[in-house]
Amino acid sequence: MTNSSTILVFDSGLGGLTVLREVVAARPDAHYVYVADDAFFPYGHHSEDEIIARVVPLMGELIGAHDPDLVVIACNTASTLVLSHLRAAYSLPFVGTVPAIKPACAQSKTRRVSVLGTKGTVKREYTKALIRDFAQGCEVTLVGSPELASLAEAELSGTSVSDDAIRAELAPCFVGEAMGARTDTVVLACTHYPLLLDRLKKLAPWPVDWIDPAPAIARRVSDLLGARSTGIVQSGAEMIFTSNRAHGLSATLTPFFGGRAVA
Ligand code: DGL
Repeated sequence: MTNSSTILVFDSGLGGLTVLREVVAARPDAHYVYVADDAFFPYGHHSEDEIIARVVPLMGELIGAHDPDLVVIACNTASTLVLSHLRAAYSLPFVGTVPAIKPACAQSKTRRVSVLGTKGTVKREYTKALIRDFAQGCEVTLVGSPELASLAEAELSGTSVSDDAIRAELAPCFVGEAMGARTDTVVLACTHYPLLLDRLKKLAPWPVDWIDPAPAIARRVSDLLGARSTGIVQSGAEMIFTSNRAHGLSATLTPFFGGRAVA
């Protein structure tokens, strides 16, 4: 049996599970450590300086404790800010999650695309540069949602969230009225939002394509890891909350870990 690689997947909370599930499907041979920095959630409400000061040293501690082969920053709010700092500070590969503006604009037929992210992500220079470089003539509407990540956490934890609460966060994404000249593509620029995808589809005023970058991130991780380890049927998984709370969500979380029991 060959040793399996350890992949550390990091988010402010449970949103990164939507990236984790794609990575696990692509690399069932790896060992997973999922870290939710819930003690500092939501990142979208913190300043840029606060997030850098929080994530860079915390990542050093996590690398020291878990010795991962690769880290996935499964959070747009952090990736659009700290990736360059992390790469400068630590020598292992980091794969980030950033708004999928390029593929969204490439596929939009009406040339109207909305980017739904946290207030932090839509303000970032990184996001504005993606629009400058890749909008390809599309009109891009940035929508900073104050509460959708928290609503997704609540829903996954079993608290029911009203249609009106979701609709209020979603409404600004839908621009224009005439059939051929209204938004037809929405970028899910926060990893929490795919947790609510069924609700988003149901509550949207008209059908659109929802762009989730998770499958592309999983392909990138798999490419970086190289050939799969042989002889390993399934490696283990751990879940860590920085608040040290007991999660009590095992049955809910197991599918995101490809069915493995989560320590
Ligand atoms: N999951 C995070 C993201 O992709 C954000 C949630 C938060 O505000 O902490 O942006």
